[in-house]
Order: sequence, then C-alpha cells, then structure tokens
Amino acid sequence: MDKFLSVNDVQNLDELVKIALEIKANPVAFGDVGKNKMLGLIFFNPSLRTRLSTQRAARHLGMDVMVMNIDKEGWKIETQDGVIMDGDKAEHLKDAAAVISQYCDIIGVRSFPNLQNKEDDYADAVMKDFVKYSHSPIVSLESATRHPLQSLADLVTIRENSDKPKKKVVLTWAPHPRALPQAVPNSFAEWMNAADDVELVITAPEGYDLDPEFAGDATFTNNQDEALKDADFVYAKNWSSTTEYGKVVCKDNSWEVTEEKMALTNNGKFMHCLPIRRNVVASDGVLDSENSLIIAEANNRTFAAAAVLKTILENK
Ligand code: CP
Repeated sequence: MDKFLSVNDVQNLDELVKIALEIKANPVAFGDVGKNKMLGLIFFNPSLRTRLSTQRAARHLGMDVMVMNIDKEGWKIETQDGVIMDGDKAEHLKDAAAVISQYCDIIGVRSFPNLQNKEDDYADAVMKDFVKYSHSPIVSLESATRHPLQSLADLVTIRENSDKPKKKVVLTWAPHPRALPQAVPNSFAEWMNAADDVELVITAPEGYDLDPEFAGDATFTNNQDEALKDADFVYAKNWSSTTEYGKVVCKDNSWEVTEEKMALTNNGKFMHCLPIRRNVVASDGVLDSENSLIIAEANNRTFAAAAVLKTILENK
C-alpha cells in the first residue's frame, strides 16, 4: 500500500482487518516497525478520535509523531493553481506538501468539504494535491468525500461482534441541526460493499441518496422501519442533502434511532462514528444500551490506524 485514501488502495481487505486484530491482541507486537520514522498529522479541521487514535497507533509501532492544526497554526494556504498570491494566503499547498514530506515518512491529512459546490468538493483537491506534491505516502484522516480509517475500524468492529457469514448492516440517515459532510456514509457504504460478509441496506429521506459511486449495489429505501427489520447492525449517521447539495432539507425527528426502532432489528448492535448529538441522532437509551458499540468502535480506530501505518511502512 503506497497511500490510503479509500478502500481501493487496499490490496487485501481481510488481511488488513486481521492485522488490526493482531495489533489489538498485542499492541506492541510490531514495536520496531516504525523505529526512527516520523508521522505527520495535518489537520485543516477539528478532531478528537482521529487525532488521538492515530498518534497512539504510531506509538504502538515505535514511530514519532508531529501534529499541526494547519488552519490555526500555519500560514493561510492557497489551494488554487496559477493564482497571483497577493491576497491573505501566504503559502501554496504544493510548497507546504513538498516541505512537510521532507520531515515526515508518512503524512496524515484531514480536509473537510465546504458544502457549497458538489463538483469542487467531490474533486477532493486538497487530498489529491497532497498525494501529488508530497514525496511521502498520504493517509486520509477524512477527506471531502471519504473517511477510510473510520470505515476500517467499523468493519473490524462488525467482524468482532458477529461471525454470521452474511450480516445485515443498515446505514440509516438520522436528524441533525447542521449540514454535515457525506464522507462517513460514502466511505462506510464503499467499505461494506467491498466486504463479502455484509448485506448493506441504506435508508434515508428523499433528497439524501448517496452517490452511486459509493452506494454501489446496496438496497436503498426511504422506509426506515422496513430497512431496520432483522438488522444485525444499525449504523446511524447524518449527512447533508445530495440533491440540494450541502443543505438540510429534512428535519423529521422521527428518523432518530430510538429503543422502539432498535426493537425492529435482530437484537441489532448500534454503531456511530462519534461525535454524536444525544437525543437528536439517537436516544440515550440506545447509546447507553448493552448493544451499543460506539465506545468499542472508537477504540478500534487505534488498531485500524496501526494496521494501515504498518502496511505502508513495510511497503516503503
Ligand atoms: N469519528 C471521528 O473521526 O472522530 P473525530 O472527528 O473526533 O476525529
């Protein structure tokens, strides 16, 4: 693996999940793999889990880590090519990426969409430009369109919690007061479609269909109750409209995942990537139930990140 931007960069999905679980069983088993190597984590946007779990993963492998909140601590970055930089932006992304890659053996980058223009966001320009101008491998810490480290942790969590040969996994839209990116649901759908032990069902109100590139052959329905029937796993997430791009077009609170909704499932486990707005996206009763995997899922972020870093380091 020479970069990690999506499931398409993974040569062997089952092997990657296996490595994550091996590291989880013995976190220091590969403590020399990253010796004398530097990981740089570049954040254009806030983070709790991605930032801390990826640092912890690096330490498990013996790597050193540098973290920069580039939006707050660095020069204001220009991302457009060929512009006359006589405004407030003092540094071009192409120079920043090349320089950072001289200090770091692997670079993690987080860059969210603006939710103003779908074409611009879905071009994923910041992540692609880091790949283009960096001399070191790039790991997505969440881009405008995908969150692959989260999705790998989600798949690890699903496999840990069910050995059914085919698990019914339901990705359900849930309400939220703000317009959120589509990266988590896009990526989750893409990874679940790539896993041969998952039957994916996506449910969302009208105006929230995921792009076919990510939804693939998953069953889609606007009927949440129907979707939840016999589900082994319920993955809740809000995302903004895809038809009225980046807008909140549905505020229907009946989409909140409640104990009554979970009762429709096959004693299903509840998942969410966090952070979550309690009693908006899902009820306290669901989040604090014994079927809630939200904390276990966040724990698996460390081992997912470690598996990715190890695989890249061994390929260098
Ligand atoms: N799930 C996730 O990526 O969390 P953070 O935004 O806190 O990193």
